[in-house]
Amino acid sequence: MITTFQQHILQQQVAGASGDFSWLLSGITLATKMIEARIRAAGLSDILGAAGQINVQGETQQKLDVYANQALLHCLGLRESVFALVSEENEQPVIFDRAPEHGKYVIVFDPLDGSSNIDVNVNVGTIFSIFRRNEQDASHAALQQGLAQVAAGYVLYGPSTVLVYTSGRGVYGFTLDPSIGAYVLSHEKMKMPRQGKYYSCNEANLATFPEPYQLYIESLRNGEAGREYSSRYIGSLVADFHRTLLKGGIFLYPPTISHPEGKLRLLYEANPLAFIAEQAGGMALDGQQRILSLRPRKIHQRTPLVLGSPCEVESFLQFAERPALQRLA
Ligand code: F6P
Repeated sequence: MITTFQQHILQQQVAGASGDFSWLLSGITLATKMIEARIRAAGLSDILGAAGQINVQGETQQKLDVYANQALLHCLGLRESVFALVSEENEQPVIFDRAPEHGKYVIVFDPLDGSSNIDVNVNVGTIFSIFRRNEQDASHAALQQGLAQVAAGYVLYGPSTVLVYTSGRGVYGFTLDPSIGAYVLSHEKMKMPRQGKYYSCNEANLATFPEPYQLYIESLRNGEAGREYSSRYIGSLVADFHRTLLKGGIFLYPPTISHPEGKLRLLYEANPLAFIAEQAGGMALDGQQRILSLRPRKIHQRTPLVLGSPCEVESFLQFAERPALQRLA
């Protein structure tokens, strides 16, 4: 018989658990099913296009960004165990006045990642990360190292809708079965290949990448890396990550002239994906350090991101760590 996401969570739950955590996760799955229903009908209703606002990141908000954010805020806000919600779309955390014994969790999310791709019917996703509340002040409660994540996951709205999840005991994938409205276990103990054949970055920015990134990418192109590589870049992080998880290889979003600190967000993009990558046997760095060990200073902080199979990330590190003159020799 099938195993649903909810059943899987209950099976993983330790004896005597309050059930708050599985109830909290059901808020996330409900919201993502609402989002997926809207996405599926996007071309048919007046839901495509810009909402006319610029979000805290300075990006144009799409109507679906707004809807996805509202769905998550609504479904999670009703869960008693939630203390604070931190969303890409909200400048400040949304805080609930709940005593620490009730409001135990802080959830950080990107409601609709890659949303500039919606109008052209390309995959988008929702990314989330869950922490325990460790401080009274909500903005600080969210500024925890990625290592402190209790769980993380994403939903990829593609040809099928897939939920990938970890609570630190391996990575599991669930596919939404539309006939029963449930996420059903489809990928058990997911492992990233030790080596892949794809590299993934926005090559239009190549000339503005720092030198170690340029030389590393050149080594993949010219055969120096010892295998033929192909490039793949969707421009929708969840989709690029999902391919890297299944097929291996490397994804890079380096610092660029227009985004000197990197473009992707540490809390709700890099951290959850780094947690999943590591749980699947992969690696995730900010170019030098392990993403999960970074100490966030602000909730919308950006970071460079290099993640993927251990073979590719380790060979990237050799370029990053070699002194400049040796790199050029
Ligand atoms: O962070 C938003 C996002 O759309 C990611 O999903 C994606 O990886 C990235 O930006 C694409 O950025 P660019 O268009 O600069 O390559």
